[in-house]
Amino acid sequence: AVEPDLAGRRVVVTAGGTREPLDPVRYLGNRSSGKQGYALAATAAARGAQVTLIAGNTELPDPAGVDVLPVGTARQLREAVLKAAADADAVVMAAAVADFRPAAYATGKIKKVEGREPEPIALVRNPDILAELSADRARAGQVVVGFAAETDDVLANGRAKLARKGCDLLVVNEVGEDKAFGSAENEAVVLASDGSETPVPYGPKDALADRVWDLVVPRLAERSA
Ligand code: C5P
Repeated sequence: AVEPDLAGRRVVVTAGGTREPLDPVRYLGNRSSGKQGYALAATAAARGAQVTLIAGNTELPDPAGVDVLPVGTARQLREAVLKAAADADAVVMAAAVADFRPAAYATGKIKKVEGREPEPIALVRNPDILAELSADRARAGQVVVGFAAETDDVLANGRAKLARKGCDLLVVNEVGEDKAFGSAENEAVVLASDGSETPVPYGPKDALADRVWDLVVPRLAERSA
């Protein structure tokens, strides 16, 4: 049996990739499968938490016992997560939020014109939701967790990102062929704002999810003490 060490806690998890529309038929997306976020939601529910899962694009079935709120764009995800975070004890940002979106949305389908090159797509920045959540904690003592997918200088980039975003924990993955995006397996290092670093060996995303909650639980207890 699983120990209900998240009983009485409300947690918010985001998962999947956002889609940023260009016109009525096209969007900018990413390769996030949503599996890690869904694993975090399912394991939190199994440990007794009341879970809100804010889901970007994914093909996964709703985990049992979890409230699922589907969203499309980064801005919709931001609205949903800020609202849900208002009474949450912990927020885990596992979603692959698009850093940029098309500067303009064409209300009609963009057409190809004979003999003419296409217009370049101008992008603008999306709000950084994790940084915003970390800066203004909706509740005193709320634990905020981020994810970072890195392809090189994984630890150095992860440490810099933890400091920049201001979250309590940052789960750093190396993106590779059989890791992170789309895969059922993951390998990570969890960096904490107190300087501790917890390596999690290659294994199922459920196992990584449980290790993340193992690090969240004592931080919750510390703050509500
Ligand atoms: O900056 P980067 O995209 O690498 O950061 C990844 C982390 O920040 C993830 O936890 C992701 O959910 C979050 N993020 C966010 N808002 C953005 C971009 C990323 O909250 N616009």
